Amino acid sequence: MIDSIKAQLELVCPRTGLCADIVAVAARDSIVALGGPSWNVQLGRKDSTTASQFKCCNTNLPSPFADLTTIITAFTNKNFTAQEMVTLSGAHTIGKARCSLFRSRLYNESNIDSAYAASLKKNCSSVGGDDNLSSRWH
Ligand code: HEM
Repeated sequence: MIDSIKAQLELVCPRTGLCADIVAVAARDSIVALGGPSWNVQLGRKDSTTASQFKCCNTNLPSPFADLTTIITAFTNKNFTAQEMVTLSGAHTIGKARCSLFRSRLYNESNIDSAYAASLKKNCSSVGGDDNLSSRWH
């Protein structure tokens, strides 16, 4: 979707639209489209010319299996407080997650809303279907 927006922007305004700005605006517009609040997005981000999935991004992303201390440390290393980390994690209110990443919690823990757990189990059985996607809202 970002590529498509970028291609259309390039037609009307060549070499001006930056992908990082498009991501920020798209994030705001997604929240608005879902009935959330709106805010002004300041523009002018520069896209990285050295972005790398393996050298940079994946080594900086916290593991889905990390404990709280590890997650707080990862965000502190980027100058975010624990409170800011929790606030930013609200991004997960929307979107999807793969079965393999929440199966263990779904089948081994009891502190999940039972109706929500039942709906997740329909698309995420205890074995197989690791890449089945489920919405994270209910
Ligand atoms: C606090 C540490 C975090 C952990 C452990 C974490 C973990 C995860 C996991 C497990 C997924 C699902 C990946 C998959 O199923 O393939 C995910 C998806 C995602 N996360 Fe996070 N996340 C964290 C923080 C954040 C923050 C701060 C943001 C943004 C402000 C964010 C934005 C997203 C987005 C946009 C997706 C993809 C949703 C989709 O594809 O529908 N995450 N995250």
